[in-house]
Amino acid sequence: MTRLVEIPAEKIPPVGGRSLIRLEEKSLVLFNQDGSLYAIDESCPHNGASLFTGKLEGRLLRCPAHGLRFDLASGCVPGVSGFGVATYALEQRQGRCFIDLSRPRAQEASQCTQLQ
Ligand code: FES
Repeated sequence: MTRLVEIPAEKIPPVGGRSLIRLEEKSLVLFNQDGSLYAIDESCPHNGASLFTGKLEGRLLRCPAHGLRFDLASGCVPGVSGFGVATYALEQRQGRCFIDLSRPRAQEASQCTQLQ
């Protein structure tokens, strides 16, 4: 079942920006990369570092702690199947933005291996 939660307008980052949001006990980072919005868990799945300050290399986000890179769209780590950061679907309706908190997207092996 879908559980859409509206993201406050002031938390929607401008193009090239990012914002940290806390919704229903989840800490998430929103990115606006070239006009596309992405939402991921703030916590790195490797050892829990905050991904908020990670360096972006195109659509790949480098964890500031140990350097793993995550694709913002899929959450996948290039070259590693079945491991990645949780990502969330976003919907924009009539100028408002909603996030589906019902289930983070899984990092399916086939999806992740495409990034190698
Ligand atoms: S905590 Fe992110 S790569 Fe180790």
